[in-house]
Amino acid sequence: MHKKRVYSGIRATGRLHLGNYLGAVKGMLQLQDEYDCVFSVVDLHAVTTPYESTSLADATRTVILDYLGAGLDPEKCLIEVQSFVPEHIELSYYLSTIYPVSRLEDLPTYKDKKAQHPKYVNMGLLYYPVLMAADILLYKGERVPVGIDQEPHLEVAREIARKFNSMFGETFPEPKRFATEGEYIPSLTGEGKMSKSVEGSFINVTDDLETIQQKLAKVPTDSGQLGGQIPQEGGVATLFSLMYLLGGKELHHKYVLDYKDKKIRYADMKKELSDVIYQELRPLQEKRKYYEENPHVVDNILREHANKCQEIARQTIKEVREKMGFLVINN
Ligand code: TRP
Repeated sequence: MHKKRVYSGIRATGRLHLGNYLGAVKGMLQLQDEYDCVFSVVDLHAVTTPYESTSLADATRTVILDYLGAGLDPEKCLIEVQSFVPEHIELSYYLSTIYPVSRLEDLPTYKDKKAQHPKYVNMGLLYYPVLMAADILLYKGERVPVGIDQEPHLEVAREIARKFNSMFGETFPEPKRFATEGEYIPSLTGEGKMSKSVEGSFINVTDDLETIQQKLAKVPTDSGQLGGQIPQEGGVATLFSLMYLLGGKELHHKYVLDYKDKKIRYADMKKELSDVIYQELRPLQEKRKYYEENPHVVDNILREHANKCQEIARQTIKEVREKMGFLVINN
C-alpha cells in the first residue's frame, strides 16, 4: 500500500529551542514510524534574513545533531540538508511562474520580516513561501508537522498545488498541517511565541539544568495573590503552558489549584518546571553527544540520504517538466 509522504523542515539558524522541539520535532517523531518521511534542515531559507556566512555550515550541522539526538531515526526517515538537493530550487522556479506576486506581498510572515529588517528586503524573502511549497511538493508531501504560525505558508503551498493541477493536470496532493499538542509555545518573556530571534524568549534543547533554571528565574510573574482563573497571557501563562506540556496534566492541575487558592509559590513552580524540562531533554542530549563525537557517521547519513532524496526529487522534476511542456529528449 502507498504510504503517505510527510515532509517538514526547520531553518538552519542554530540550536533548536523548546518551541521547535514541541511544535515540530515531536510531530516528526510520532510520524516516522508510520509514514514515508523526509525531514530537512532548510539552509536555503536561512539565508533570506541577515545571517553570518561563517556560521551557516555550523548552524546546519547543529540542527542535524539536534534531530538525531531527539530520535529521528536514519533507518526510518530521510534526513535532508535542503541545499544538497538542488531540485528544490529548480521546482521553486517553475512554481513561481504560476503564482501571483501580490499574494506573496500580503503574507503576514513577509510583512513581519520586512518590518524587522527594513534594510534586508530581498527577492528571496518574498520568494520564501514558494520555495517552501516546492520543498513539500517536490516529495509530494501530504502531511507537514509544523507549528501553527506556518499555516499561511501551507495555504500558499495548497494554492500552488491546486493551480498547477488545474493548469497542467493532476500532479500534486494538497499538503495539510499535522498539528501537535505543542503547536504554539509561548515566549519566556511572556509576550508572543518562543523564538530564536527574540533574546531571552527560549530554552535550547541542549541547555543544562542550571541554564534552564536561570532562564526560568527571569520569567516575569505576579504577586501570587491574584487567585481566580489562570491568566491567558504573560509570564505566568507561559509557566502554566510549559507545565502542562512537560509536567503533565496532574502536575499542572496541582498548580492551577494553588493559583486559585492564592498560595502559589512561583519559585517552587519554576524549580519543578526546570526539572521536568531537563528530564525531557536529557536523553536527547546524551544521544546527541554520540553523533557529535562521530561526525563521519553523520556525514555518511547525510550523503546517503541526499542521494535517496535526489532520486525521488528527480522523478518529480521530470514529471513537472513534461507536464509544463518543456523539451524532453530520451537518452
Ligand atoms: N518556514 C518554515 C519555518 O520557518 C521552515 C520550512 C521551510 C518548512 N520549508 C518547509 C517547514 C517545508 C515545513 C515544510 O518554520
